[in-house]
Amino acid sequence: MTGMNEGSPAMLGHPMIAQPNHDELVEQMFVRDLKVFVSGTLEPTQRAVAQKLEAVAPLTNSNSPVEDLRDRMMGIESFKTWIALKRESQRHLWSAVGESVERQKDSLEALSQIATPRGSVTLDPDFVAPAYITGADIHLMPGGNALDDGSLLQGAVMDRGGAVFMLGRNGGMLNDLRGHTAMAHLPTAYPDMKPLKILEMGCGIGTSVVPAATWFPDAEIHGIDVGASILRYAHARAEHLGAPIHFSQQSAEHTNFADGSFDVVFSCVVLHETSQAAASNILAESRRLLRPGGVAIHLEVPLMNTFGMMWEELSAEIEAEFNNEPYWRGALSADYGALMGAAGFKDVKVGYQSTAFAGPHSPLKFGDTSDGVFRSWFVTSGTA
Ligand SMILES: C[S@@+](CC[C@H](N)C(=O)[O-])C[C@H]1O[C@@H](n2cnc3c(N)ncnc32)[C@H](O)[C@@H]1O
Repeated sequence: MTGMNEGSPAMLGHPMIAQPNHDELVEQMFVRDLKVFVSGTLEPTQRAVAQKLEAVAPLTNSNSPVEDLRDRMMGIESFKTWIALKRESQRHLWSAVGESVERQKDSLEALSQIATPRGSVTLDPDFVAPAYITGADIHLMPGGNALDDGSLLQGAVMDRGGAVFMLGRNGGMLNDLRGHTAMAHLPTAYPDMKPLKILEMGCGIGTSVVPAATWFPDAEIHGIDVGASILRYAHARAEHLGAPIHFSQQSAEHTNFADGSFDVVFSCVVLHETSQAAASNILAESRRLLRPGGVAIHLEVPLMNTFGMMWEELSAEIEAEFNNEPYWRGALSADYGALMGAAGFKDVKVGYQSTAFAGPHSPLKFGDTSDGVFRSWFVTSGTA
């Protein structure tokens, strides 16, 4: 039987990722194709309808042109069908992956027993996840990022689901191009920086922190997140990938690391999932944790700076409401350059880092213009 993980190295994934049987694979491929249809065919059609509406009828609600557009679009059946399919394909994704992971729980737990770990995982039984995490199951993943049932299964669901969700656009089953791109920003913008101690804030199951070990094999590398299950999984996953990483359960708003502990602190697609107050706290904490001259890199979705563009705003509202991304809209409108300045960073840079498709061998490019979604990532950085 041919599995989804056979083939190219990117599709091969890694030993920890849940392996679907025939029927599960068919189900996952169906969801993937449905999501491609929803985002690649239906969404552009709706965008064209919206643009036509804008062009032929003047907007009536000058206080909120997006609300006006939304009201009008809600009168169109195909718009509502697009939203329904978008939401249901996401729910279908998690149920398909969840059942497959549940079937493999014993083998996944066995795989996570690492005889001689090079990294570590430290959990805090008294940890209380922030309300913006527990208040919504972001991306509709049942149980959310902070779920802890004593196992690593939520991490396994997040890994397999995330890889299917990204539709191969972020490094296949490794899902690691964000991390490579964040690391590529160092030689691009700070060529003298040779970090010996690195932290990723909001590391999830470690997709973006493992690349740090590829770029800087001599560095001591840490990853923090709020979820015990996803951190257990992240540790096992990193060990199987040969990356010695120290994971701990902490909020990026207030960590237990001493002032000036790190040369580099970075985050990947975390800020758009936190409240605005939390985003400011996370930036300030990243500043506190850097030694003088250290560098913080915060990477975000490349749709940043699209605030003011009618369809992007409406699409952001739909994403926020129907795919449980309550902070998406605020994140799109945030001025991260100003927030970095307010957090005390010097020499703040804001722009687009081209995706590091070839890892450490990628061409380096950072500038004002985006190469497009998944071909570049929004990055703000600064020094302490
Ligand atoms: C979209 S995921 C990205 C994970 C990873 N950085 C990557 O690139 O794959 C966002 C992660 O940020 C974590 N997160 C959100 N707020 C956090 C906080 N205050 N402290 C630590 N982690 C946080 C979530 O639990 C989640 O795992």
